[in-house]
Amino acid sequence: MRPVSAPFPLTRLRRTRQSAAIRALVQENDLSVSDLIWPVFICDGDGVEQDVPSMPGVKRRSVDRVAEAAKEAQNLGIPAICLFPYTDPSLKTQDCAEAWNPENLSNRATRAIKTAAPDIAIMSDVALDPYNALGHDGFVVNGEIVNDETVEALVKQALSQAEAGVDIIGPSDMMDGRIGAIRDALEDKGFTNTMILSYAAKYASAFYGPFRDAVGASGALKGDKKSYQMNPANTDEALRLIERDLREGADMVMVKPGMPYLDICRRVKDTFGAPTFAYQVSGEYAMIMAAAQNGWIDGDKAMIESLMCFKRAGCDGILTYFAPAVARALA
Ligand code: PBG
Repeated sequence: MRPVSAPFPLTRLRRTRQSAAIRALVQENDLSVSDLIWPVFICDGDGVEQDVPSMPGVKRRSVDRVAEAAKEAQNLGIPAICLFPYTDPSLKTQDCAEAWNPENLSNRATRAIKTAAPDIAIMSDVALDPYNALGHDGFVVNGEIVNDETVEALVKQALSQAEAGVDIIGPSDMMDGRIGAIRDALEDKGFTNTMILSYAAKYASAFYGPFRDAVGASGALKGDKKSYQMNPANTDEALRLIERDLREGADMVMVKPGMPYLDICRRVKDTFGAPTFAYQVSGEYAMIMAAAQNGWIDGDKAMIESLMCFKRAGCDGILTYFAPAVARALA
């Protein structure tokens, strides 16, 4: 018998990494198509598909094409799609009235998707930025983003989305009190089954740049969003926001951006055990795609690895522009 002091490792952790079969057997987390929410951009017109230059492979689609894409996504097993409108600059005003127009792009797309792909869940974004001549998520009064007046408008926007048929309302504006106000209004109008996925811990991030191009908000935005979106240096504040939004009636919560904030995902999941999502945002997508297109990384492998890491960090699901590509890769 070899003495315990032998100069060999007694614990050979490599044993369970020796073959694909054994690695699969001991794997702790899994990535599946059912973890994905696919964000899509909608534009005006008919039969239109436009490339988004800063997001290779991502398109803006007219309502008819979004409906087709949703059907494809449904066939791929993607459980949910999230709508973002590219609003014509002529419809952007300081009162943001287009946000609750029943005939706005987002609401028309919702109805078209419900007809074309009734089984995919539809999530929508609640925030004024696509409709605001000043580019902010809330009303701007004397240079300030005003909270309570904005919340009243967000309630109107959320109700118009629920009326169009949205399943999951996604407030991304970071105003205080909006979850409770939207929940109350939904209950009041009989939308008791309409869910709220709160962008609860949303950071003021440089990684949203390509998205603002995609929805045409970059030009309009004056200044930054630091008075309402979170400081990237903070963690405890994220927990307070999540706690507050759950208390006000959020069914699910989100951390955003994703990859640089996996520590927040883990703390949120461990603390609350609520359905927790991360948004792998436009800048994260653009970084992976740019490096892959330059031949600097293997894009497909980086895509799967990045998404698996969200699962390891405790997320139940991920909003990702890669959703259809992942679904195909996993099929
Ligand atoms: C708007 C909104 C943003 C994103 C989702 N909803 C941008 C912002 O807050 O400026 C970013 C998504 C992405 O970058 O992929 N309220």
